[in-house]
Amino acid sequence: TAIHREAYAAPAFWIETVDLTFDLDPAKTRVLNKMRLRRNPDVAAQPLRLDGEDLNLARVLVNGGGTSFKMDDNQLVLENLPEGTDAFDLEIFTTCNPEKNTQLMGLYVSNDSFFTQCEAEGFRRITYFLDRPDVMASFTVTLRADKAKYPVLLSNGNLVDQGTLEDGRHFAKWVDPHKKPCYLFALVAGQLVAREQRIISRSGKEHLLQVFVRPGDLDKTEHAMNSLMASVAWDEARFGLPLDLERFMIVATSDFNMGAMENKGLNIFNTKYVLANPATATDMDFGNIESVVGHEYFHNWTGNRITCRDWFQLSLKEGLTVFRDQEFSQDMAGEASARAVKRIEDVRVLRTVQFAEDAGPMAHPVRPDSYVEINNFYTVTIYEKGSEVVRMMQTLVATPNDLQGRDGFAKGMKLYFERHDGQAVTCDDFAQAIADANLGSALAQNLSTFKRWYSQAGTPRLQASGSYNAAERTYTLTLSQSCPATPDQDNKAPFVIPVALGLLSRDGAALPLQLADASDVVPQQTLVLTEASASYTFANIDSEPVPSLLRGFSAPVVLEDGLNADDLLILLAHDSDPFNQWEAGQRLMLQSALDAIQQNKDLTGQPVLSNELISALRNVLRHPGLDAAFKDLALTLPSENYIADQLDVVDPQRVHALRENMRLQLASALQADWQWAWDAHKNNGAYSPDAKSSGCRALAGLAMTMLCVAAVNNGDAVTPGRVYQQFKDAGNMTDRFNALSALVVSGHALAQDALALFHKMFQHEALVIDKWFALQAGAPDRAGDVLPRVRQLMQHPDFSLRNPNRARSLIFSYCSANPAAFHRADAAGYVYWSEQVLALDAINPQVAARLARAMDRWSRLAEPYRSAAKVAIERVAAKADLSNDVREVISRALSSI
Ligand code: ARG
Ligand code: ZN
Repeated sequence: TAIHREAYAAPAFWIETVDLTFDLDPAKTRVLNKMRLRRNPDVAAQPLRLDGEDLNLARVLVNGGGTSFKMDDNQLVLENLPEGTDAFDLEIFTTCNPEKNTQLMGLYVSNDSFFTQCEAEGFRRITYFLDRPDVMASFTVTLRADKAKYPVLLSNGNLVDQGTLEDGRHFAKWVDPHKKPCYLFALVAGQLVAREQRIISRSGKEHLLQVFVRPGDLDKTEHAMNSLMASVAWDEARFGLPLDLERFMIVATSDFNMGAMENKGLNIFNTKYVLANPATATDMDFGNIESVVGHEYFHNWTGNRITCRDWFQLSLKEGLTVFRDQEFSQDMAGEASARAVKRIEDVRVLRTVQFAEDAGPMAHPVRPDSYVEINNFYTVTIYEKGSEVVRMMQTLVATPNDLQGRDGFAKGMKLYFERHDGQAVTCDDFAQAIADANLGSALAQNLSTFKRWYSQAGTPRLQASGSYNAAERTYTLTLSQSCPATPDQDNKAPFVIPVALGLLSRDGAALPLQLADASDVVPQQTLVLTEASASYTFANIDSEPVPSLLRGFSAPVVLEDGLNADDLLILLAHDSDPFNQWEAGQRLMLQSALDAIQQNKDLTGQPVLSNELISALRNVLRHPGLDAAFKDLALTLPSENYIADQLDVVDPQRVHALRENMRLQLASALQADWQWAWDAHKNNGAYSPDAKSSGCRALAGLAMTMLCVAAVNNGDAVTPGRVYQQFKDAGNMTDRFNALSALVVSGHALAQDALALFHKMFQHEALVIDKWFALQAGAPDRAGDVLPRVRQLMQHPDFSLRNPNRARSLIFSYCSANPAAFHRADAAGYVYWSEQVLALDAINPQVAARLARAMDRWSRLAEPYRSAAKVAIERVAAKADLSNDVREVISRALSSI
């Protein structure tokens, strides 16, 4: 049942217009679908096959009269349609049951309101249609519903009519002025209130922006509205892309499978990415809201105006739009140092989640060749790696006057819209436009090789070795690359890898760079590796330098540069590239961990971090010129999952013990410094989510955790008492939650009290209760007590398996984010996982398939975990009526040995 990219065929029919009328009722919604179709003259004449799922079909009329039709699986097949290429009318009447729709795809009910989610293939659960993105139609939508229960009736585009009907009902009619594929259709009906804002865009046009939420949540919409206004301004300023609608709406719902959805003019969001005020949301929530509001807004051009020809091209819109939202957040952060912090955070996600995906059974190219269930391919590879591919394109169109390639890339975007506005296109079309607008660039010169980033899965390894020639005063750098095999791809051809670099002298000074065959001298250079290996010689180098390679993480590769601890300490102290400065510290910590594992050290009480590293980290922490946000990142140890990913055989308990050991060492050795960091960075006045003050809160939070870790170890009661006091007195959720988390994570006895109080304070704030569940599911496992606690929490009156946010907060936090509690020698964690995958699959296959992926890396586990994990996966596989979603993930997992 796999679908293949190569099998793409243009549609045999086009749908020109569609006029939908909904009589909304939770148990039985009636949908009248009147379409105007035309045969595609470029395709051989054939029957019309319309997709439909979970629909009750009542009537089919062609040009107003009855017609013959048949059902073939989920398709409605019409064989006797008018011949020729004249347009004809097709009318289809169906009903569906939104309140029974627990999959949250198509039309569903959440908290007594109606919402839709159509991407990727949800529209077929609303009516019969050509449910594919290359069929773009003009939509007119009439909504009818009980006026008291559903006072607000929304759909895409402009409201052209509204009024009352008999029996307490009313209607609203919406016309979308832009053609669109059906995955961008949306409707919303319910008791909602809106924050409104009128804006004038640069072109002088007036627009109405609205953020709809449930009554009572209006005080949590200011930040989303500010983010939306900033997004509109940013897309106009950076890319010349204006808002093309009179009205732009965002609606929040608490039942949502993913983050948010870019339906034309009517974005529907998970409440998690809309609602925030200082009392209920953390700095991270504020940052996520800014980036997701931006992301969905930017889709209006990259996704909606130009959409995907087929779902294999998903990264065309997602990779590009993630790139755009990352750039937006960086621009919003302001100063160079704050931009660098955002870049480090983005790379951290890429390397911990996407590199793991690329090394596991679900590895797939940025443009996949086949899939069973498209919902399984909304992945970090399509999104985050896809964004890195776009970022490399920008880097590869740089010129001496445009060092980052921003102008060249913007020119490429302009050409992309000139060529393809209003079309459904491919990743090739995008890359071609960027290259054609930058003739002579490294991208244009290497375009076909560059596009291997789209076709080949796996994370390339980049080896670098340098040799210094004192007599010639030259330094020669040799770069070579390879890429491990991935499912269905054994051998990889070389990638085009931009390597931004600088050289430092051993006393930390930046050295001017002059390639031996070039005349210009620059402080930083981007080498472009296009072959399996190549050498570069730099002239006029007085002594052996330390190379700082892959600055800013200029390509999504694993760098093996052979630098030793002394070299890395130089970079940690002096590198002018903040990414590589951070990376040097991470590598030193990681290497300490890997050495300890390799030497099979007895971990109890043995120091793992060297004195040199500890004092270098102290210097970073105390440095007067570095931002607090950077210090927080630099002093945070690599995660257990990231450490585990570097090992061929993983004993999760050992990795955990080792990281705990390192943390205790860092906490104890720097105790006075942590105390200083806490005192110097806490309570920075009235709350604002800006980069600088959120950085201070983050560093104060890390300091609190470290102080509690040290206190639990040495029996000090004073500091945890002060942390508990901050928990109670905090003026915002970030400080409060950091204090709570410090107590929980350090395993302090005050944690239980604090958790109980926290629940009492926020019992009516669903998003805060999600945090409460997640924190407990992620707590340290002192005596195998986390799993029993998780099972007990499933019985809590606030728990519900049907609400994806809640299920994620408890179940996913335990199975994916708490390795030491999950990987139990008695296999009870795996048993729990298999139970929950099966229970969720009966309700919501998309969410179940995400949970299924918690076992992606099972085959790397040490015994007894490996065998026990396999048994659990086989238990899921043995279920006869699994969804396609879960079946695909599970069978891929089992084929990875
Ligand atoms: N296009 C949305 C976004 O990234 C994601 C929607 C995915 N939904 C799904 N059910 N697969 O902004
Ligand atoms: Zn997106």
